Amino acid sequence: MIVGASLKNNILLLGGSGTLGKAIIKSRLFNNLNYPTSKTLNILNQKKIEDFLIKKKIKIILHCAALARVKECEKNKKKAFRINVLGTKNIVKSVNNCWKKNNLNIRVIFISSDAVYPSTRGNYKETDKLKSYNYYGWTKIQGEKAIKKLNSYTIIRTRFFNKYKIKFNYAAVNIYTSSIEVRKLVKYLNRIIKKKFKGVLNVGSKRASDFEKYNKYKKNIKPCDKSKIFNNLNLKLATDASLNLEKFNKLI
Ligand SMILES: NC(=O)c1ccc[n+]([C@@H]2O[C@H](COP(=O)([O-])OP(=O)(O)OC[C@H]3O[C@@H](n4cnc5c(N)ncnc54)[C@H](OP(=O)(O)O)[C@@H]3O)[C@@H](O)[C@H]2O)c1
Repeated sequence: MIVGASLKNNILLLGGSGTLGKAIIKSRLFNNLNYPTSKTLNILNQKKIEDFLIKKKIKIILHCAALARVKECEKNKKKAFRINVLGTKNIVKSVNNCWKKNNLNIRVIFISSDAVYPSTRGNYKETDKLKSYNYYGWTKIQGEKAIKKLNSYTIIRTRFFNKYKIKFNYAAVNIYTSSIEVRKLVKYLNRIIKKKFKGVLNVGSKRASDFEKYNKYKKNIKPCDKSKIFNNLNLKLATDASLNLEKFNKLI
């Protein structure tokens, strides 16, 4: 069982309307949580971010804002670049300015992805060489590079799903990941923040096929070969994106 007590720092959640953001808000594990909409606080507007951080005396930023759909990123690379790379750079600049101008020390938790790894052999360690297999993954690598320029950061490499919203009718028996149910991920995030972990961390659950993962929650999902998924999508996908979780298991 994962036990989580609420955090008392002023937190800014970016991406509160997304799958992960909604689960963070619903969990009530994060006290003093500010979650402005993208209309109110667009990460493309650097000055607005900076003003918000100062006004609300933010201590932690949970950066979950992104163009996170692989297909959309391939279709609209400019948009993906703006949000995932330039948006993240804006956050970094704002945090650095807050330090220089106002002596505010803000910690950034950046939600990265397993898509920063080649995702063919599996069991990827945090120290392994990064290599993306699609545009989305490339933008997340660039985001990480920007975040690493900060004094105080945590990069979470993960993949997750909402057990109540599994939309697929088929899942491959031979595509492997460490994908984690989003509610579990939120509880782990809370603990990672409380432990003040700094650096890069893989977060997920035990390696399993997509079929095994989803069948646990959606009994009528049908097993299939990966070729069925690949042919339907016309996209390069991971075959084994599983994560080495040694560092995570030691911490948690
Ligand atoms: N889903 C996965 O399996 C997965 C796997 C690995 C990593 N991740 C990462 O986890 C994070 C959260 O993913 P998710 O699945 O929850 O994403 P999501 O459901 O697609 O939500 C994306 C969020 O980003 C916000 N956003 C987009 N552009 C913005 C902008 N310019 N300014 C401010 N906010 C903006 C969206 O706000 P609006 O709704 O207002 O547009 C939305 O709240 C992302 O960083 C993603 O790359 C996801």
